[in-house]
Amino acid sequence: MFVPIIFCILLGAISATPHDDFRSNLEFADYGTNWVNNGYRLNDFVQPTEMIVDLDVYLRQFRFDGVVRINVDVTENQLNQIVLHQNLVKVEGVNVVNAVTNDPVPLKITDPFSVNSTFELLVINFDSPINSGKYAITVRYEGKINENPIDRGFYAGYYFYNGAKRYYATTQFQPYHARKAFPCFDEPQFKSRFTISITRDNDLTPSFSNMAISRTEQIGNRVRETFHPTPIISAYLVAFHVSDFVSTEYTSTASRPFKIISRQGATAQHAYAAEIGLKITDALDDYLGIQYHEMGQGVIMKNDHIALPDFPSGAMENWGMVNYREAYLLYDPEHTNQNNKNFIASIMAHELGHKWFGNLVTCFWWSNLWLNESFASFFEYFAAHWADPALELEDQFVVDYVHSALTSDASSGATPMNWDTVEDNLSISAHFSTTSYAKGASVLRMMEHFLGQRNFRNGLRYYLRDNAYKIGTPENLYDALRQAASEDFTFARDFPNVNVGAVLDSWVQNPGAPVLKVDVNMETGLITVTQERYVVTGNQPSNPTWQIPLTWTHAGEMNFTNLRPKTVLSSPSTTIQGAPGHNWVIFNVAQSGLYRVNYDSHNWEMLGSYLKSTNRQNIHKLNRAQIVNDLLFFIRSNDISKALGFGVLDFLGSETDYYVWAGALTQLDWIRRRLEHIPQAHEAFTNYLLSLMNAVINHLGYNELATDSTSTILNRMQIMNFACNLGHAGCIADSLNKWNSFKNNNETVPKNLRRYVYCTGLREGNATDYEFLLEKYNSGENTADMVVMLRALACSRDQTRIVHYLQESMNNDKIRIHDRTNAWAYALQGNPENLPTVLNFFYNNFAEIRTKYGGEIRLNTCISSFTAHLTSHERIEEFHSFVYQNQIALEGSFSVGDSVARSANANMLWGNANAPEIYEFLNTKSGAATIVASSILLLAASLVQMLR
Ligand SMILES: *[C@@H]1O[C@H](CO)[C@@H](O)[C@H](O)[C@H]1NC(C)=O
Ligand SMILES: *[C@@H]1O[C@H](CO)[C@@H](O)[C@H](O)[C@H]1NC(C)=O
Ligand SMILES: *[C@@H]1O[C@H](CO)[C@@H](O)[C@H](O)[C@H]1NC(C)=O
Ligand SMILES: *[C@@H]1O[C@H](CO)[C@@H](O)[C@H](O)[C@H]1NC(C)=O
Ligand SMILES: *[C@@H]1O[C@H](CO)[C@@H](O)[C@H](O)[C@H]1NC(C)=O
Repeated sequence: MFVPIIFCILLGAISATPHDDFRSNLEFADYGTNWVNNGYRLNDFVQPTEMIVDLDVYLRQFRFDGVVRINVDVTENQLNQIVLHQNLVKVEGVNVVNAVTNDPVPLKITDPFSVNSTFELLVINFDSPINSGKYAITVRYEGKINENPIDRGFYAGYYFYNGAKRYYATTQFQPYHARKAFPCFDEPQFKSRFTISITRDNDLTPSFSNMAISRTEQIGNRVRETFHPTPIISAYLVAFHVSDFVSTEYTSTASRPFKIISRQGATAQHAYAAEIGLKITDALDDYLGIQYHEMGQGVIMKNDHIALPDFPSGAMENWGMVNYREAYLLYDPEHTNQNNKNFIASIMAHELGHKWFGNLVTCFWWSNLWLNESFASFFEYFAAHWADPALELEDQFVVDYVHSALTSDASSGATPMNWDTVEDNLSISAHFSTTSYAKGASVLRMMEHFLGQRNFRNGLRYYLRDNAYKIGTPENLYDALRQAASEDFTFARDFPNVNVGAVLDSWVQNPGAPVLKVDVNMETGLITVTQERYVVTGNQPSNPTWQIPLTWTHAGEMNFTNLRPKTVLSSPSTTIQGAPGHNWVIFNVAQSGLYRVNYDSHNWEMLGSYLKSTNRQNIHKLNRAQIVNDLLFFIRSNDISKALGFGVLDFLGSETDYYVWAGALTQLDWIRRRLEHIPQAHEAFTNYLLSLMNAVINHLGYNELATDSTSTILNRMQIMNFACNLGHAGCIADSLNKWNSFKNNNETVPKNLRRYVYCTGLREGNATDYEFLLEKYNSGENTADMVVMLRALACSRDQTRIVHYLQESMNNDKIRIHDRTNAWAYALQGNPENLPTVLNFFYNNFAEIRTKYGGEIRLNTCISSFTAHLTSHERIEEFHSFVYQNQIALEGSFSVGDSVARSANANMLWGNANAPEIYEFLNTKSGAATIVASSILLLAASLVQMLR
């Protein structure tokens, strides 16, 4: 499944605002209960071998009747019961026969079966104990179509077509919701073939499931469609869909089907996903050596991708039928911006990657989730990159995934990838976010550079070949990679004593990630390197040792293309003989490894002056991105003096590269917020940032050129968003021009500029501007574009409109349930003065929010998003008192509120402790002149406002 990053409670102290353009939602949060309690787990001496599921679906009544036949292998004797999962409305009857003789197996007369609703079990009681053998269980039952998508299982959603509301029903079974649609062995380790039949109303279009339709029957005024049997899969990968949706077939050969499916009225938005999806499938086929379409075990595997208006997660890799949120699949050339276009390609690559890692080879239990999530996240960037290099996803991997993995690993509470102890729900949600996705993928990339691309690919092929249709374990993967490495003579020669599996395992087992401390003796050339766990708050809960493949280069002989490690650091510290000479060194070339690097002061100073010279670009952009990101973290954790850290960072004043700025912005904003309660320091720092950004703003200009690369487009988006928010006069004036032409003359704003142009229009405008954009939102047809508008609506400064906006977030049925918590976060981000309004709204309505946003987890998300915005002593106290006074009514959200207040307070204390030094640096900087200059710009901004 595709999910998300950023959990504010745990990371509140770490990440500023979530990297805004990252797909942020909180889906794994409710994975909790089922994992910690063994009561939910099944015994493995009853193995399902085949499932036949027959559903009679009444979409408009939100219900269905079902009959399931389950063939099982029993490997134990003297069994009194068979236990499987169910979470249905009613189990009507159970019947068991010996599958060989077809003789009935008598059940206990008084108590033939029972359901345990706590543990979601169906318990079948035999009259007398049965012995090992093959049995067939038949269950007749009633089920419901959940009306709230967040309830998952088989659920309904809606859309509007020609003004009328239409319903559809689809499934989301991961991680344990298949039992809501049929009784089953609902754990990933139980794999079998499934044959699905669905009966539906005549006036709908043919249903979809994992496989193609094999047979259609008319039954009265209803239609029954039976699908081909699936290959051997886990229950969570089963899917079906009942609706009047329409599809577009994109393929030249019948043996390689490929379809995009959506609600009616959106077929014009299918083409891009198909174009890129076909290429990604081909690329993965070639790379992994197993053909997607041939995985069906006797039946051609189809390749459908369905856009859903309502979807609780980002996307889900059901075999043969991937579900997506509409915004992540449908592309409109007029309306879908570059960021969302990249998402479409990369999310598709992620889900397709799962077909091999997750579907074909499945991990034994959720603690090994990293095995398939990491691979999916790896291919998310790289397979999409192969399909369309112009998207630059290979490089974006570093600033998106490597940086966010390092950010979450900087928390003292970071959990290891192979987590198996759960302390509480929060650690679960943290685990299933950044750790399994970004970190796992970053570790795989490091292993790829270490082993070499060919060996790495061969290892993956061995792993898939040896474990296909079965369960895979980390050991299976280590074995496969070891085998591939051992077959490469050069590798074995260069790394004679290195155990490849052990290198990988050190990253899997250790919590957090290391910082490498590098001390260079330029006279002797001797480099001392020491590894240590990096924790942003300074205190390390533990200090394990990683096996770190090391790459480095130096000013005497720069080489940023050779990413092959020279050695593996497997002890806490070592010395390396480098070339003597007055040359800086850089470790972690192109940030190919998952670690930060801190140098001795002299090396930093030399790097700083090189970066400020015109030769800056000789240092790889991804190393420049790493340097700014590392430095900002070291400034936060007091691992470097402000003067030295900011002294090096000063090179941003001439930097124009997307990647470097992407490595800096979130952290710069974090620091700026920490000064918010100290106006003098806050203003000085804001002006400093504006002065740093002048060069990049001038370089980019306000208008897009036809020749702009992807990263130039993304850079303009990120830089102008930030600049307009900081009050940059030119950005504001240009945005207002565009906004007014849009509003007054119906001149569309170029899609990639909309986010900050709309926001500025609303921020500088009044209620009329808000109503104008709200009208556009309500009549929007492209979801990604609607989300852009939803975000901008919250930029209004009219606080009656912000209250209106928050009301809409609960009641407007154009705002999908998965966008409601986003709307909340946007309301906080829109303007600093929105905070009191949002807080009051929360104080007065939290119970209703809990219901309308979809439950306690959603309310917790809302509460968490206060962390970054509660920056003043008064507000923190006010919020904290409210939380304490209302702890009973807040229920489980009380503790979230409490820790939000504590994190906010810790953040504020950081500001108190560090503001003087930062202020002093800004004052002594020769740049006093630039600070004055940008104040003049600000003044100009207010003039523009007055003259408008
Ligand atoms: C990865 O493996 C786990 C365990 O088998 C499975 O349940 C999960 O759904 C797979 N894919 C995911 C989480 O995307
Ligand atoms: C479910 O099973 C557990 C464990 O056997 C038991 O404690 C509980 O009472 C059962 N609940 C129901 C509703 O039968
Ligand atoms: C960098 O190293 C690689 C691999 O050793 C080599 O092929 C390449 O020519 C080097 N590049 C430079 C600029 O020295
Ligand atoms: C505004 O422009 C759009 C397309 O650019 C067009 O569809 C729409 O009808 C125009 N509206 C008005 C009021 O002219
Ligand atoms: C908003 O401002 C415009 C002028 O910019 C004015 O015409 C309009 O009446 C104002 N609307 C409201 C609701 O104040």
